[in-house]
Amino acid sequence: MTPSVNRLRPRRSCLAVPGSNPRFLEKAQGLAADQVFLDLEDACAPLAKEGARHTIVDALNNGDWTGKTRVVRVNDWTTHWTYRDVITVVEGAGPNLDCIMLPKVQDAQQIVALDLLLTQIEKTMGFEVGRIGIEAQIENARGLVNVDDIAAASPRVETIIFGPADFMASINMKSLVVGHQPPGYGADAYHYILMRILMAARANDLQAIDGPYLQIRNSDGYREVAGRAAALGFDGKWVLHPDQVELANEIFSPSQEDYDHAELILDAYDYCTSEAGGKKGSAMLGDEMIDEASRKMALVISGKGRAAGM
Ligand code: GLV
Ligand code: MG
Repeated sequence: MTPSVNRLRPRRSCLAVPGSNPRFLEKAQGLAADQVFLDLEDACAPLAKEGARHTIVDALNNGDWTGKTRVVRVNDWTTHWTYRDVITVVEGAGPNLDCIMLPKVQDAQQIVALDLLLTQIEKTMGFEVGRIGIEAQIENARGLVNVDDIAAASPRVETIIFGPADFMASINMKSLVVGHQPPGYGADAYHYILMRILMAARANDLQAIDGPYLQIRNSDGYREVAGRAAALGFDGKWVLHPDQVELANEIFSPSQEDYDHAELILDAYDYCTSEAGGKKGSAMLGDEMIDEASRKMALVISGKGRAAGM
């Protein structure tokens, strides 16, 4: 299979939309989220799932999703819904769909199974083979210990996503507030999990995405939790409410000051390595010494800034 998935799509804000709710599906199209994911899993009641598959196909084919990455979250492989979710949605709306999100991924075989099913559907329907990507949600201990294999399981994988609510339940974390520190532990209880996911993602050139923050009226809380993931290097975070969209877009974009500084570093480095600048490997920019590693750091900030339209 020649993959043509796009691992660099903007995903600062990934908006969750219940697949069974046509009103929310309509409203989502007007929001400034980088990505939308139409949900067949936890936001859809068991008795609503069958109907929601068709509601989603209709929304993907007839809605205006211009500028957004279009994703559908199916149910996980331990349920009996997964194969019909994938077949109905991809056969019905494949050309208008960018990725399938697979929740509660526990090992690489679950990714391989989805990859094979997607390939069969693409071939049967005459769609471009390998175009539809996979987003893998890590939501339990087994998924986390296997995350390196999961990230490398298929060229379709574009992102590794932390699912904090299910994850906290799966490890018996003593807190009911998703993303907040459990009382009684004097350090950051999420650090290991976030870093583990980030390393697996970066080692395979994938994006790393943080999951939901459920206190939708608490924008300070959202800032704090999203800021933690952004500081480590995550590419974006889920948004559950229109009010969280702008916050995510801002938090996962560089500040104007950092962006301007990154551009200065790139210009200064280009000059110092050029013939006119003496073909030097490093230079001073004010009080700061810059070299090839500085250029790489600056490229990350500048790339994110340009993608954000700065
Ligand atoms: C998301 O699916 C989560 O469980 O946090
Ligand atoms: Mg979950």
